[in-house]
Amino acid sequence: MTNHRMDCMKATANPMESTPITNYGASPEPGEVIRYRLEAGEVDWEIAPGRTVRGYGLNGQVPGPVLDAKQGVPLEIEFTNRLPEPTVIHWHGVRVPAAMDGTEVVQRLVHPGETFTYRFIPPDAGTFWYHSHANETEQMEKGLYGALIVRAANELTLDAEKILVFDDLRVDKSGQIAKFGGLMDRHNGREGNVRLINGTSEPELSIAAGQIERWRIVNASSARYIRLSLGGRPFQIIGTDGGLIEAPVTVEEVLLPPADRVEIAVGPFENEGAVLGIDDLPYHRMARKKNAERFGTIRVTPRKVSTALVPARLREIEPLVTDAATVRRTVKLGFKMSLRRGFDFVVNGERHHHDQQVKVGELQVWDVVNTTMMDHPFHLHGFFFQVLEIDGKKPVWRSVEDVINVPPKSTVRIAWVPDDRPGMWMYHCHIVEHHAAGMMAHFEVVR
Ligand code: C2O
Ligand code: CU
Ligand code: CU
Repeated sequence: MTNHRMDCMKATANPMESTPITNYGASPEPGEVIRYRLEAGEVDWEIAPGRTVRGYGLNGQVPGPVLDAKQGVPLEIEFTNRLPEPTVIHWHGVRVPAAMDGTEVVQRLVHPGETFTYRFIPPDAGTFWYHSHANETEQMEKGLYGALIVRAANELTLDAEKILVFDDLRVDKSGQIAKFGGLMDRHNGREGNVRLINGTSEPELSIAAGQIERWRIVNASSARYIRLSLGGRPFQIIGTDGGLIEAPVTVEEVLLPPADRVEIAVGPFENEGAVLGIDDLPYHRMARKKNAERFGTIRVTPRKVSTALVPARLREIEPLVTDAATVRRTVKLGFKMSLRRGFDFVVNGERHHHDQQVKVGELQVWDVVNTTMMDHPFHLHGFFFQVLEIDGKKPVWRSVEDVINVPPKSTVRIAWVPDDRPGMWMYHCHIVEHHAAGMMAHFEVVR
């Protein structure tokens, strides 16, 4: 979650009082395993009534089914590839063992007709997602993604919950998914002309007057930064990539770069029958300007009793760094001209950089430096980090993240500690075209 951009956020304390949640853990029944079967294949994806595009789905749908998991309970996903091309599934944000990370670095791609079973125990409650990690610029655009929710034993429940996966899709004149736009798309990232929530163009959602809902939001777009507004009404941020934040923060908008998640408490709304926009406000992530665009609407339906209470304290997050931090590594996100390809996106001057190893248990303080003129959402696989500073300024609240926006010509200082999951890992820009163009690095976690 990236609303550490203080300029577009007014933070106020939450007035509601209640007991803090201290037990964030779960105690599974012995022997309990949650099993899913996922099958990737071509689908006719109905993006609006009567409007169908040929895409890639999981179990016949886009997004794929919501995987509902429990914190601390083994999860088993038997994945079969029925696509005409190889793929692999990445469990974005989940602290899985390296071998289960679902990248071409840790496993052989799953070829058409093959099955691979992913097994891991999700250690953290929160809103995660899964997506293709092969030929991403095509496969993710075509719809190969879904939400993965990991619930704590004592999960915070409000009056209702919505799981909303946002995406944009570029549809051409023939009504099909447009062909990749070459160098322009490679440079800017592919943005779409159809805005989708849970695979449907501009749907109408509903919420009962008087009620407060928990919304879990994922930005599955290839390149779009969503500056989310709900009709200009205030809502409360309660969680980000790695679960709940310490205390709710009331805002009127939140910025979600690609792959980012946010959990918000929405409502109560008073006027039955009112219709509010779910909008993406203007955001200039490079030279190109984007106007406000609509993702959907919310209709306020007849009043219902509310039993929801948003606690004033949600969770305690131990700061990883309390005094002056020694920076161990500088990760430079860059742009480079290339004779063969026109240009590349690079890390420390290299495409697909091989970075130094890190040691289990050793505090990592990294400066992620954006040397370019455009935003890049930095994503670390398999581990959470805390954001210490953005251009020298502390974030407004403490949180646990796996994606952070690095604004143009800016430095984001992060801290993380590799827990005992040795193996090959990676970090990259989550504008998938930039990742493909080389803005990524591999590194090893060693004991
Ligand atoms: Cu969403 Cu390499 O990740
Ligand atoms: Cu790579
Ligand atoms: Cu980028």
